[in-house]
Amino acid sequence: MAGGTHVKKLLLRVLDGDAGVPPPIWLMRQAGRFLPEYRAVRTQAGSFLDLCYTPELAATVTLQPVERFGMDAAILFSDILVIPDALGQSVRFVEGEGPVLEPVRDVQALAQLTTARVESHLAPVMETVRLVRRDLSDDVTLIGFAGAPWTVATYMVEGSSSRDYAQVKGWAFGDPEGFERLVSLLVEATTIYLCAQIEAGAEVVQLFDSWASVLPEDQFRRWVIKPTREIVAGVRARHPTIPIIGFPRGAGLLYEAYVAETGVNGVGLDSQVPVAWAAGALQGKVAVQGNLDPIFLLRGGEGMRQAARNILTALGSGPLIFNLGHGVLPATPPDHVAELIALVRETGVRETGVRETGARETTVRATGAGRG
Ligand code: CP3
Repeated sequence: MAGGTHVKKLLLRVLDGDAGVPPPIWLMRQAGRFLPEYRAVRTQAGSFLDLCYTPELAATVTLQPVERFGMDAAILFSDILVIPDALGQSVRFVEGEGPVLEPVRDVQALAQLTTARVESHLAPVMETVRLVRRDLSDDVTLIGFAGAPWTVATYMVEGSSSRDYAQVKGWAFGDPEGFERLVSLLVEATTIYLCAQIEAGAEVVQLFDSWASVLPEDQFRRWVIKPTREIVAGVRARHPTIPIIGFPRGAGLLYEAYVAETGVNGVGLDSQVPVAWAAGALQGKVAVQGNLDPIFLLRGGEGMRQAARNILTALGSGPLIFNLGHGVLPATPPDHVAELIALVRETGVRETGVRETGARETTVRATGAGRG
């Protein structure tokens, strides 16, 4: 085990390939509408994008779940759609409806977009990162993030959330050279953005590819794996040791190729991924993150406890970051989150009889994960 391991934060050690006992836990969308204190700040901010671009308020809502529940990580409060906004596309969030963008559907429309202003436009987000790092306790990790190019492109091309992805898939399948120009623009902007987050204090970054599930194999390789690999390489060129988590939601059997070919240190599993399969096929290569179905958290009770234990049993002896398979749903009772965290933190207690600092500092070298 590397020297100084005992001082490194638990979540970072797991991304190095250690098994944390108990595993670190955070939840996708842990800051959001299920928390009354979020709704209060959200009202104060006005629009959702105003909240993302007001550092004091964005830092406050980033810290809220950590203060209430004591997660092992805070995730920067922002959105994946700040990138199209920074590129010059019109982006709005309509109450009760979700994002609305002026669609970009061909190469001509790309002329209005530029990466030149990404850093200056997103400077408030970096200020949020600095404020959070200043206020975060020493054992909590700050996760920065961005949308992966494919998922961000779905919103840019469809102009909103979509049912069938007909426009974006039509462009990608029918005019791959043209669509490649949009994806290249996103690779460049995302690399700039993630590097800036790291320079401001993010200790891990996650790429959300929420709509990776809608592409057939060859298209998945071209529009999910390839741009992700380029971003990972671009970020590592400037920050060689930064841990990167990829979340290709719904990738199915293609999770293996994603892990083998992108260079990520950790992979987010959606709830459908069989945990026993992930233990054998993925966890020997990278840390895994997930994958409780958000509905179990919403409903709570014995169902939630059993589902969480299944994950801990299958994946808990290797590098695991406990999380959901997708974001916290707005109707989730906060008490259920507190109960889930308590349950995860009991992991290893009964087996070893150790608790307290002893248990939290016990790590077992489990894999060759973590090439950083
Ligand atoms: O996880 C966190 O707590 C950090 C903040 C965060 C948000 N969005 C805040 C948010 C993160 C990491 C995201 C990522 C994001 N945004 C994704 C990828 C993850 C996923 O859920 O699949 C996607 C696809 C988006 C795009 C997006 N943002 C949509 C489609 C919507 C509208 C739907 C909805 O849930 O309302 C948003 C809005 C959004 N982003 C909200 C929050 C808290 C709710 C807006 C509000 O408070 O009015």
